[in-house]
Amino acid sequence: MERFTTIIDGLQLSIVKGKDVPIVYIHCAGGDATFWKNQIEEIGGYAIDLPEHGESSTAEIYSLDDYAYFAAKFIKKYLGSSIIAGHSMGGAVVQKIYLEYRSIVDGMILIGTGARLRVLPEILEGLKSKPEETARFIAELSSVDEKLVEDLSNKFRERAKVFLLDLQLCDKFDLLDKYKSGEMNVDVPTLIIVGEKDKLTPPKYAEFFHEHIPDSELIVVPNAGHMVMLERPDIVNDAIKKFVKKVTGDEP
Ligand code: COA
Repeated sequence: MERFTTIIDGLQLSIVKGKDVPIVYIHCAGGDATFWKNQIEEIGGYAIDLPEHGESSTAEIYSLDDYAYFAAKFIKKYLGSSIIAGHSMGGAVVQKIYLEYRSIVDGMILIGTGARLRVLPEILEGLKSKPEETARFIAELSSVDEKLVEDLSNKFRERAKVFLLDLQLCDKFDLLDKYKSGEMNVDVPTLIIVGEKDKLTPPKYAEFFHEHIPDSELIVVPNAGHMVMLERPDIVNDAIKKFVKKVTGDEP
C-alpha cells in the first residue's frame, strides 16, 4: 500500500494505492481512504481521500456534486475510465459520477448505500449539540463488531465537523424518483453489496437498486452491518474480484 498526492484544480488530493487494478474506491461520511485498506491490500486499485478528509486539502464543498467532480477528474487523469466503488455517502457520489460523467464509468460497486440517503434528525441535531455522544451512537448503528464500534466512535468524534457536513449533504441526496422514472438508467454492470444487519442503509435500499438496474448482482452479507467491507472483507473481496474479472476480463 502506498500513498501519493495529485493536484486537481489547485487542490491536493491524497490517494492510497495498491496493485494497478482499474478500480477507484470512495469512502463514507466522516471516512477516509484507509476504510478500504482490506480491498487495497488484497485486490488493489485506488482509494481517494475526498477533499476535507484524511490527508487531502480543505475545499469549499456545497454538495455531493463537488465530491463527484474531484473524483471524476482524478479518474480521467489517471485511468481514463474505471470501475467505481462507493460506500454509503461514497455510493451516492458514485451515482452522481454516473449521472454527470457516464463515459468514465465501466462498472459500479454500491456498498451499504441507497438511491436516497435521508438521515435521522437526531443524528443531524446531535452532532451539533452533543457530538461525543452522537459519534458513539452512530458508531453503534454502524457495525456489529465491538472493536470496530470503538474505533469508529473515536474517528467520528474527532471528525464531527466534516461528518456533520457530509451527513447534511447525504440528507439532501435523492435519486429515488429518477430511478423510478427511468431518467437514472444504469447500463453498466453493477455489483450491490449490503450487510444483512445494516441499520443505516438497510437491505431494502439495496433491493431497490437490484430491481432498477438491469445488469446487477446483489450480495447480502450475513452477520454484517453498515461497515461490511471492514467487517467481512473475505466475502466482499471475493465478490469484487469476480466483478473485476467480469468487467475487465482480467483477474485482479
Ligand atoms: N431505497 C429504497 N427505498 C427507500 C430509500 C432508498 N434509498 N430511502 C427511503 N426509502 C423508502 C422507505 O423505506 C420508505 O418506504 P415505505 O414508505 O414503504 O416504508 C419511504 O421510502 C420513505 O422513507 P424516507 O424518505 O426515508 O422517509 P421516512 O420519513 O420514512 O424516514 C428516516 C426518514 C431518516 C427516519 C429514515 O430514512 C431512516 O431511518 N434512515 C436511516 C438512518 C440514517 O440516518 N441513515 C444515514 C444514511 S447516510
